[in-house]
Amino acid sequence: MKTYLSVWQQENLISQEDVRLKIIQAGSLAPSSHNTQPWEFKLLSNKNTFEIYISRSRYTPEVDPDYRQTWISLGAWFGYASISALQFGYTLSAVWHEDWASSPNRMDSPIGLLKIQSTTQIDHPLYPYLFHPDTNRSPHKKHSIPHPLIDLIQSFNKTDVRVQTITDRHLIDNLSSLAYQAAILETTQLPIMKETTLLFRKNEREKNLYGYGFSIDSNPVTPISLWFTQTLLTVFPRLSSTESASRVFLSNMRKSLSHTEAILCMSVPVMTMKKCIEIGQVYAQIVCLGHSYGVACHPISQAIEVYDAMLETKLNIEHLLNIQGELMMLVRVGFPTKSTRPSIRQPIEKLIRK
Ligand SMILES: Cc1cc2nc3c(=O)[nH]c(=O)nc-3n(C[C@H](O)[C@H](O)[C@H](O)COP(=O)(O)O)c2cc1C
Repeated sequence: MKTYLSVWQQENLISQEDVRLKIIQAGSLAPSSHNTQPWEFKLLSNKNTFEIYISRSRYTPEVDPDYRQTWISLGAWFGYASISALQFGYTLSAVWHEDWASSPNRMDSPIGLLKIQSTTQIDHPLYPYLFHPDTNRSPHKKHSIPHPLIDLIQSFNKTDVRVQTITDRHLIDNLSSLAYQAAILETTQLPIMKETTLLFRKNEREKNLYGYGFSIDSNPVTPISLWFTQTLLTVFPRLSSTESASRVFLSNMRKSLSHTEAILCMSVPVMTMKKCIEIGQVYAQIVCLGHSYGVACHPISQAIEVYDAMLETKLNIEHLLNIQGELMMLVRVGFPTKSTRPSIRQPIEKLIRK
């Protein structure tokens, strides 16, 4: 079994004695921005509590200057972790430290205190879906999203966290076109591309060594072409240079965006750390609900990132969607044409601070 995939095995999770470790591990299957898995934990002596931190080495400042994507990812971890906690017979609650971002030593300070409390064990209907690969970037089949799923997604829509599923063809085409322009713009931003390239793991050795970041498996490929491409990338590392990575990224984006059945938009009236975490938590549940219908999610965040060069595109999209506040997630939703693989994850030992 490959180390970087071992966390996806349910048996490995069950073998942990401390329920906090089981919850941390199940949560770490959650989607995260650039697969940075930005979470770290400290187990406290009280066995019902643990602290959550943001990893200094996995934070991506160029693409995420105000931490919003990191916070959303943390929220996704919390969403998955909460589902697993109920499955194990616990509730999971959190006290988030709202002043974390203004602390000069923030990377050494916990961002939240987590608490578990025993409750009646239930078979959570979404628990099996934690173990499905989260993100599928392939073109969509020409099948509409089932209405019961749209209704379930809409049930998350509240005054302070807005959730909207767009199925209007004209609006989808306009959004897709803006998202593609954003992808092109992103490839011209050298600091962003450098940061992204540093997260690319080109072979099995690098995937095991790091356990986070991107690899060729993120795109639907057959095992033989995966082996062939990885071998090429190891022998000719220049193939994974910024320029060739950009070409592959743009070509895949164009294919996917031109076959998009629905787009999920999530926004907040005012962006705060807690709201970002809430968005992530809701997104985690939508990913699992989607799986239960065979429907896949694919965030297209390049268009709503907040570094200077992208701000105009983000404003254009917010205007097109008549967003009152800030758009936090833009996600392709549909029946995928190709299956995908679980992506690399770190073993639990790497997530625990001493
Ligand atoms: C806040 C956030 C933003 C993301 N943005 C993108 C994106 O712009 N493009 C993309 O292809 N995937 C995006 N993703 C998906 C991640 O790349 C994906 O979760 C990660 O690579 C791990 O893979 P998995 O979700 O298949 O487990 C995003 C995920 C999160 C939580």
